[in-house]
Amino acid sequence: MTRSFAPATYPGLEGRAVLNTGGAKGIGYAMANAFARHGADLLLMDMDADALATAAKTLRRDFPHVRIETYAGSVTDEAAVEAACAACEEAFGRVDILLTNAGISMNRPSTELTLNEWRRAVDVNLTGTFICAQAAARRMIAQKDGVILNTASMWGLASSPGRAAYCASKAGVISLTEVLADEWAEHGIRVNAICPGYIRTALTDELIGKGTLDLARIETRTPQGRMGTPEEVAEMAVYLASDAAVFVTGHAHLSDGGFLVRTF
Ligand SMILES: NC(=O)c1ccc[n+]([C@@H]2O[C@H](COP(=O)([O-])OP(=O)(O)OC[C@H]3O[C@@H](n4cnc5c(N)ncnc54)[C@H](O)[C@@H]3O)[C@@H](O)[C@H]2O)c1
Repeated sequence: MTRSFAPATYPGLEGRAVLNTGGAKGIGYAMANAFARHGADLLLMDMDADALATAAKTLRRDFPHVRIETYAGSVTDEAAVEAACAACEEAFGRVDILLTNAGISMNRPSTELTLNEWRRAVDVNLTGTFICAQAAARRMIAQKDGVILNTASMWGLASSPGRAAYCASKAGVISLTEVLADEWAEHGIRVNAICPGYIRTALTDELIGKGTLDLARIETRTPQGRMGTPEEVAEMAVYLASDAAVFVTGHAHLSDGGFLVRTF
């Protein structure tokens, strides 16, 4: 029997102020839905202003009891991240939970990868995560409470040929998560990384369309025989951010349909 996904309800999320980067689409948008379902207020930060407006409109329609704000900007821009944190504080009084979903893929054989491509992947995926975590933690330290969830990838834990910049940047996100969890535990801040396997989003659809990802091969290679959904990843986020997970910090949590345990 194949069981279908059934979302649960977790404690301690109602009324919390969530800053969600990359929240306009894909996994970030699914997380926005999951936190809104729990009654959390959300500030979505994304580079794509149009997608941001559409996401906010749908969320306001579906969750009229929660407050939804947006900020258009890049996580690589320190001033924009600071402004997004300030906007979150102004709207909701606090920044309780940071979700760092903004990320890009970078697939090219290592001998052909340009330095600009390398720098762009590291800049968005790793440096962007650090900029957001630092800006949010300055507020969380003052309030002695906070949760940071960094969306890394299973490719931060294992190698994938032709993806040096992506894998290295995501491995960096996992290492950053470990250090920040250790450094900020005394301030009441928990930091975890979420490591999705292959998840069906605009990002992977584009790669499948270009022939960079082979859908049939992914399905055969995954023990559960399918790609995951953004909602399944978002469920891990609401659990990890909730009071059900108060003793969980510093770790990388996989949701990959068993992909990484298979060795062929
Ligand atoms: N889809 C997967 O299979 C998969 C697997 C593992 C990890 N991830 C990670 O999950 C995260 C979300 O991926 P997704 O598949 O939902 O992608 P997506 O492309 O559907 O969504 C990413 C969002 O981030 C935004 N964004 C990109 N660069 C930004 C920047 N510099 N500043 C602000 N916003 C920016 C985009 O506009 C978009 O709305 C990424 O970090 C990705 O690496 C995805």
